[in-house]
Formats: sequence, C-alpha cells, structure tokens
Amino acid sequence: MTPNELFDLTGKVAIVTGGAGDIGRVYARALCETGSQVVLADVKEEPVKVAAGELEADGFAAIGVAVDVTRQESTQAMAASAVDAFGGIDILINNAAIMVDLPPFGLSNMPVDEWDRVMGVNFKGPLLCTQAVVPSMTARGGGRIVNGLSAGGFMKMGGIYGVSKLALHGLTANLASELGPLGINVNAIAPGLIDSDSGYASLPKDSPMRAGLEMIIPGKKSGPPGNLIGTLLLLCSAAGDWINGQSISVDGGWIMRL
Ligand SMILES: NC(=O)c1ccc[n+]([C@@H]2O[C@H](COP(=O)([O-])OP(=O)(O)OC[C@H]3O[C@@H](n4cnc5c(N)ncnc54)[C@H](O)[C@@H]3O)[C@@H](O)[C@H]2O)c1
Repeated sequence: MTPNELFDLTGKVAIVTGGAGDIGRVYARALCETGSQVVLADVKEEPVKVAAGELEADGFAAIGVAVDVTRQESTQAMAASAVDAFGGIDILINNAAIMVDLPPFGLSNMPVDEWDRVMGVNFKGPLLCTQAVVPSMTARGGGRIVNGLSAGGFMKMGGIYGVSKLALHGLTANLASELGPLGINVNAIAPGLIDSDSGYASLPKDSPMRAGLEMIIPGKKSGPPGNLIGTLLLLCSAAGDWINGQSISVDGGWIMRL
C-alpha cells in the first residue's frame, strides 16, 4: 500500500457520537474527507442535523441522528440508522461526553443521581454504542472503535470526570481483548488542553489551573480539535491495523505513562 492508501477510508461507514460538539464535528469532517460515509449522532438533535447538513452541502455523505447514548434502545436505533442509510458500520467513535456541565461535588459527597448522570454518558454510553455496532462490524469482517478519553483520566485530581475517563481506559483494553479475535480493534485518544468553546468552558483561558498545567506540559501546550485528526485517522485506517487496546495521549507530553 502507498502511504495515501494506508489512510484511505473510501467505502467505510463511521458513526461519531457527540457529533454536534466541537471535537465531534471536526472528527466527522476528517472521516468524510478521507472517504467515509458518516453518521453524526448526538442528544442535541437540531445541532447534529445542522452539522450533518453542512457536510452534505460540501458534497459528503453524512446524516445526523438523535441518540441518547445512555439508553440501549436509542443506541440500537442509531446503529440501525447507519445500516439503513449506508449498508453497515465499520467505525465507531465514542466521543459523546459530559465535560462542561459537571456536578459541583467531590467524590466523597457526590449525590448518586449525579454520579449516574456522568457515568451514564461517559462510561456506560461507549459500552452501549459498542454493543450496538458489533453485530454489523462482525458481519463485515471487522471494524474500528475509538474511545474519547482525556488527560484528566490520568490525574489524581480529575474528580468524577477523570474517574469516568479512567474507567473508559479500562473498558478500552477489555473490549480490545474481547473483540480483537473478531477483527475489531478498540483504541482510545486522550487529548490534553483543547482550544475550543467547550475546552475553555471546562477550563477557562485565564484560569490559574490552566496556567499551572501549561507549566508542566513539556511540549506543545494546547491545540485546536484539528490537532487530534492525525491520531484519529491512524486508528481508523489500514495504517493502524496492528494497533489494538492502546490509549494514545495527544497532549504535548502532559501525561506520560511509563
Ligand atoms: N474539549 C476539551 O478540552 C477536551 C479535552 C479532553 C478530552 N475531551 C473529550 O473529547 C470529547 C468531545 O468533547 P468536546 O470538546 O467536543 O465537547 P462538547 O461538549 O462540545 O461535545 C460533547 C457532545 O456530547 C453530546 N452528548 C452529551 N450527552 C449525550 C448523550 N447522552 N447522548 C449523546 N450525546 C451526548 C453533547 O450534546 C455534545 O454535543 C469528549 O469525550 C471529551 O471528554 C475534550
């Protein structure tokens, strides 16, 4: 294969959850630009349809569907929409998450319903979406699943958000072990500080915490969502055939797991 062929996704069908969000929209466009047909799925129905419409207007094959990743019947309907529209599923990007609207509690005094709300979207959601796509991926001889982690998952002070992402790191390795024999590779991307509306909403531009984190990041301090595209395409394409069960940090060296 030539280097271009290694990253070519022509004919593939991808689902991007959180497709109305800052990173989801960028992921969906990158997958379209490398040849995929894309289902953007989000609990925000109107914005996700607008995002898909923008891709369609640019000549790409994209649809927007409503999904609540915490509800099994909803994730099953999302997968059925992809099969109906494009004939099957090859790629799932588990990108939806609660990151901005987090409960203002510590873990030791977290109300159980708030715990369930965050863990439902950030941890159970990727599991339900995976369960929904595995039959189609298996029928097509394999697939790729990419989970959206965060540098916050590898910090001791990440709170419930960090715990949910560390749990997803564990789920990534377990699903990779279980699904590898079916030809389905499961990996994850753990971004660092993202320059986007939601990135700034979760950690304001001028906050002392952001300044402190930037001091300990040895390489590039922050970047726009587009800085994640290279890793995404690696994990979704033939270039990443041999990569399975890995959580890749894309954060300038903020997190280094030895
Ligand atoms: N932005 C950052 O700084 C940053 C840094 C590290 C990791 N991440 C991770 O990247 C991913 C994307 O983040 P983003 O910056 O685009 O955030 P975002 O808030 O812009 O997008 C998240 C999307 O998930 C959707 N969502 C929430 N609950 C849902 C549900 N129940 N069902 C379906 N969709 C639901 C939201 O509607 C939203 O559109 C997340 O997994 C986040 O944890 C973001």
